[in-house]
Amino acid sequence: MQHPPPNPRPPTVIAVDGPAASGKGTLARAMAAHFGFDYLDTGLLYRAVAYFGEVTPPVDAAAELAAATLARVTKLAASLDPQRLNDPHLKSEKIAAAASYIATFPALRAALRAYQVNFAQTPPGGLGAVLDGRDIGSVICPDAKVKFFITAAVEVRAKRRFLELYGQGHKVVYAAILHDLIARDRQDSGRQTAPLTEAKDAIRLDTSTLSLEDARDFVLAKAQVQLS
Ligand code: DC
Repeated sequence: MQHPPPNPRPPTVIAVDGPAASGKGTLARAMAAHFGFDYLDTGLLYRAVAYFGEVTPPVDAAAELAAATLARVTKLAASLDPQRLNDPHLKSEKIAAAASYIATFPALRAALRAYQVNFAQTPPGGLGAVLDGRDIGSVICPDAKVKFFITAAVEVRAKRRFLELYGQGHKVVYAAILHDLIARDRQDSGRQTAPLTEAKDAIRLDTSTLSLEDARDFVLAKAQVQLS
């Protein structure tokens, strides 16, 4: 009699959450490379919807997105082409603000959920997935094997973002970047649906005074322990 094949091991998931420019993307990528897992920057999904859906945040924060626009971008989100996530336009601060705005709409978040859950459950390499964002440990992958919450003082994050953009040749003003980050933190943490929160079982790391090497060593060591 033939036995059914044994159940393959479900892929391992590492969830990494935190505010903008906390270093979570760099650390998530480092863990993915170290463990041979696939990496998904979920912020790119919101950025792609904002950019390709041509969303502009309203000047008046109380103004609602037109129902027709919401229906259009929700449709776009439900069938997002992964190739579109590589578009360099997604990296701008203007698109970050539009992404943060669009991310406040529950219907849009629901439409992007399937993409993220699918990636976590069936990563291309089959071994495991590292996802970074705002609600990965709390909403998208609450059963993740390892959860991190990466943070840093807003002034430190603004300085990092300033140096990154300045290094790429952009004309940037530190005070404007700081202002935008404060506004984005407020919007991402204050929204009603899936706000940026530290999952109860997350390992917290404040990178304000850490070198990249020290932060990387910390997350790799912690993840190693939890995965073994
Ligand atoms: O990670 P990022 O800065 O590229 O994200 C851009 C915006 O997208 C962020 O300000 C809020 C939103 N976002 C979200 O609401 N949930 C996620 N999991 C990832 C990003």
